[in-house]
Amino acid sequence: MMESLIREWDGETVIVRYDRATGAWIFIAIHSTQLGPATGGTRMKHYPDQEAALEDALRLAAGMTYKFAVPGIERGGGKAVISIAEYLEPETRRDLLRRYGRLVHQLGGFFYTGPDVGTSSVDMDTIAETGAPYIFCRTPAAGGAGSSGPVTALGVFTGIQVACEHVFGEASMKRRKVLVQGAGSVGDILIKHLLNAGAEVLFSEVDDMLIQRFKDELGLQFIPIEEISKTECDVFAPCAFGGVLNENTIPQLRCRIVAGGANNQLAHPEDAGRLRAKGILYAPDYVVNVGGAMAIPGIETLGWSQADAEEKVVKSVRYALQRIFEMANAEGITTDEAAHRIAEQRFSKEV
Ligand code: PHE
Repeated sequence: MMESLIREWDGETVIVRYDRATGAWIFIAIHSTQLGPATGGTRMKHYPDQEAALEDALRLAAGMTYKFAVPGIERGGGKAVISIAEYLEPETRRDLLRRYGRLVHQLGGFFYTGPDVGTSSVDMDTIAETGAPYIFCRTPAAGGAGSSGPVTALGVFTGIQVACEHVFGEASMKRRKVLVQGAGSVGDILIKHLLNAGAEVLFSEVDDMLIQRFKDELGLQFIPIEEISKTECDVFAPCAFGGVLNENTIPQLRCRIVAGGANNQLAHPEDAGRLRAKGILYAPDYVVNVGGAMAIPGIETLGWSQADAEEKVVKSVRYALQRIFEMANAEGITTDEAAHRIAEQRFSKEV
């Protein structure tokens, strides 16, 4: 099973480490180094089995390749998955992260990493103890640029505005109803941007503390997970799991736009066609969620200021999405296909 996953994958290299002390498996998937060093987050969570963990790493790494290619960033796609038991003691977890950091260091710049689902800037500080200088998003106290969530949320918010402009003829969010799935590091800030812009926000979450915060303190309408796809709204913004757009959910959707921060929102490439057939405009995930991966390496290695970084993210999400929507219209293809074509142009130029 693992063999066939790797055989059928179109990426370059997979590094596998079994961590005997915790029973964790580490998979570092290097999808492409054609445009630059492979870069991508480190996802740390419990998976039902190791095939699922490897598969996640492979797909997420490919997404990073396209994420960097569309705006022309000189980095390649990679991703690490640390597949852990359901619970680790904090000190055990930190030791595991230090061993993982040593592995990233040994790769000598073949793979650069930052946070993803299940890891934070504080974790990046720990990983950097052994993994520097290949670790992005350390806390400001440790000399890093901090969380990638806020600038990613800014890009997603821009993507939602561009999509609204395209569908409703106005970028204003005042009459718009937006359902945000996931109030984590990206969803949380996205909700704030949407509220500031006057949108009506509904949210879905699985974490009780977050549910309470957004429902009771901000007074937002809570949507249970099983009702997400049936909820009527203008924009559905997935900011939690991958695979939320699939053959079961798409027929139920009652939105005009899908634009959110989660990686790998389409369960299968053909789901882009299902959305198009339903008249739902899909803003490709890796195009709108590029913010963190663009801004943080820019700030930490290219000397960008926070303001430069934000401006570049807003401009490049806007420019890329407008081109994608125009190309999809003109050629009668899905927005996902249009985004792929733009990325492919970069690869062919580099050969
Ligand atoms: N989780 C980020 C993403 O999917 C990964 C990342 C963040 C990589 C910051 C580099 C720097 O884009």
